[in-house]
Amino acid sequence: MTAETFRTIWQKPDDPSVVQIIDQRVLPHEYRVHDLHTWQDADTAIADMYVRGAPLIGATAAWGLYLAALADPTSAGVRAAGNALLQSRPTAVNLRWAVERIFRLVDASGDDLVERIRRDAQAICDEDVEISRGIGEHGVELLAEISRRKSGETVNVLTHCNAGSLATINYGTATAPVYFAQHRGIDVHVWVDETRPRNQGSQLTAWELARSEVPHTLIVDNAGGHLMQHGLVDIVITGTDRTTRCGDVANKIGTYLKALAARDNDIPFYIALPSTTIDWNTRDGVKEIPIEERDPEEVSHIYGMVDGKTARVRTTEEATPISNFAFDVTPARLVTGLITERGICEASEEGLLELFPEMRDA
Ligand code: MRU
Repeated sequence: MTAETFRTIWQKPDDPSVVQIIDQRVLPHEYRVHDLHTWQDADTAIADMYVRGAPLIGATAAWGLYLAALADPTSAGVRAAGNALLQSRPTAVNLRWAVERIFRLVDASGDDLVERIRRDAQAICDEDVEISRGIGEHGVELLAEISRRKSGETVNVLTHCNAGSLATINYGTATAPVYFAQHRGIDVHVWVDETRPRNQGSQLTAWELARSEVPHTLIVDNAGGHLMQHGLVDIVITGTDRTTRCGDVANKIGTYLKALAARDNDIPFYIALPSTTIDWNTRDGVKEIPIEERDPEEVSHIYGMVDGKTARVRTTEEATPISNFAFDVTPARLVTGLITERGICEASEEGLLELFPEMRDA
């Protein structure tokens, strides 16, 4: 299990005016801590993916607003920074959730705006750890059941992208059930999709599973269907950047194809999500969720080690036209269930409302 104390974002211990993150662009070849001094630094860290993963994007935006308040402790200053931060990445709804939460704080009366925002940014992080713990506690039961059915033989989980510790504050969402299974002594192994173009699977998920000593194997993105046909996958668990009120799920590009292959092979396909990733205002994911398109260079170039040094190389002809959609939407009908911090439910409006009845009239 990831160390209880592991965190992906924190205030610099000897200088509380600085927020520190792990620069995920350079993993697994280098572990580099990066300082955020201004809200603009937080904006760059989100847009250029020093940090990524829906919950961590939200937490970074919240800390960004703390940095904004340090520079300009007025409601107008914080709001201007928040509105700019909202443009940094469009798909993960945690960004809007976190910014709107801080805005509510700005509007409420009370003294010392900076300290109020600092406390709430910290609370968002602490709550995320507890939410991931809840996802782990509920999700592990699915893996325990498969293990019982297989008389203790290895449970093979397939995951896409990185919905692990690095995408959250600790434990992750899709990886939380795996860490809890490992802790319980369940024999578990993870198939890690490489996740082109940015390789969050090979560069981040493989890195964090190795550090937690979870058995895992890296595969190319197109291998999943083959593994499923040959009985080598017991369950698919991925994360999500935004889940609609009706249970449609946006996640890293390629997730939809995994869901189709899982359905064709009768393999359970689960999504692990914190409630902060539910967009209660949308219903039809394909029509309503904005899908981020990113720099074509993420497709034409690849980052790795060459002769002992990190390097970025172009793999395509310079003139090749490229499109780079970062996410796709898996319709609820292909999702076996949603693993949340409050329990597991059907991917439907009724399923979600049973767990979150307070949202019935929202
Ligand atoms: O582009 P990224 O790396 O931010 O995409 C991340 C994902 O798709 C994750 O699966 C999702 O954010 C869930 S993170 C718990």
